[in-house]
Amino acid sequence: MTSRPTWAEWAEVQLDEIRASGRWRTPRTFDAHGVAGALQGRPVVSFASNDYLGLSAHASVNAAAKEALDRWGSGATASRLVVGDRPCHIELETEIAAWKHSERAMLFATGYAANLGVLSVFGGDDVTVFSDELNHASIIDGCRLGRSQVVVFRHCDLAHLDSLLSAARGRKLVVSDSVFSMDGDSADVDGLAEVCSRFGALLVLDEAHSVLGPAGPLPLDGLEIIRVGTLSKMLGSLGGWVAAPAGCIDLLVNRARPYIFTTAPSPADTAAALAALRIIRGPVGEALIERLRSIVDRIRPGHPSPIIPIVLGDEDVAMQAAGDLLSLGVLVPAIRPPTVPVGTSRLRIALSAAHDDSMIDHLLASLARLGLG
Ligand SMILES: Cc1ncc(COP(=O)(O)O)c(C=O)c1O
Repeated sequence: MTSRPTWAEWAEVQLDEIRASGRWRTPRTFDAHGVAGALQGRPVVSFASNDYLGLSAHASVNAAAKEALDRWGSGATASRLVVGDRPCHIELETEIAAWKHSERAMLFATGYAANLGVLSVFGGDDVTVFSDELNHASIIDGCRLGRSQVVVFRHCDLAHLDSLLSAARGRKLVVSDSVFSMDGDSADVDGLAEVCSRFGALLVLDEAHSVLGPAGPLPLDGLEIIRVGTLSKMLGSLGGWVAAPAGCIDLLVNRARPYIFTTAPSPADTAAALAALRIIRGPVGEALIERLRSIVDRIRPGHPSPIIPIVLGDEDVAMQAAGDLLSLGVLVPAIRPPTVPVGTSRLRIALSAAHDDSMIDHLLASLARLGLG
């Protein structure tokens, strides 16, 4: 009898496969408060984070987190349905609803969990989900959790979506990122809204990266929309949110397993996000957004988001370019399959209002020096 490999042996085989494919990944230590810090001990400026407005290191955001820590302790300690809300959860939900012009909002532990929650509750085996081909992995996983039939439409191709919707029967849900996380381009949200209202499809928009827009779609007769986002990018914290009509939120509270069976966001994360949201909605936030817009325009004029891809194609070329930039003190990640399609490996530059002019000068000079500018 041949003996079955142990799980450790099986894992080794898998690891060998990953090594052989040249796609080994390992996190590195970045010791930093803000965009400048030490990567494995080497000083660098990071163009890798999604802290688009620099709020993760903002003094009043950090102070709000410390105050929450002192008042409510380090953890939420259980699911909200079990242990109850902390007042800051409700305050943040109320302000997110106002920010997104929605009846209600609710928090999830992460943006990833928010997509799982929405797409599992509003999906199902009697629902067809129409999903943009470049949607984020959490949307893809949410569709799987919902056991929906999934129809993928060509990237930002409204005519394709229209023809697929017209051929479908039954309940329909259209889901799209507002800003696509690896290309930094934006969806035509008004066009999506128009198509959805015409076909009676529910529109789910993931606004995780929509710091420079697009704003939510124009209100339209018959349009039903659920907006999803994260506290972890422009708000500099951790957690996810959903903004939707009251009944949809009540249904999520009662049915969304990624809400029910997990611990609520920590008081410190929640209070930090609340402080960050208040900044974003005031004059300081406006100035930060304007600053970010001007930085983006220095690198790629008119580009709709702070995510700037430099597509190089080959995985090794992208890895080499990222290594060369790092040796100049510039941290820009190489993004490879399976995160992006084969043959489209790239550098992904993420800009932040926290980058000062000299940092942007150095980025531009480094890209030019390596023939990447
Ligand atoms: C488009 C999009 N949606 C959702 C998420 C998940 O958000 P979070 O990091 O809060 O889980 C991300 C981020 O990674 C994202 O890029």
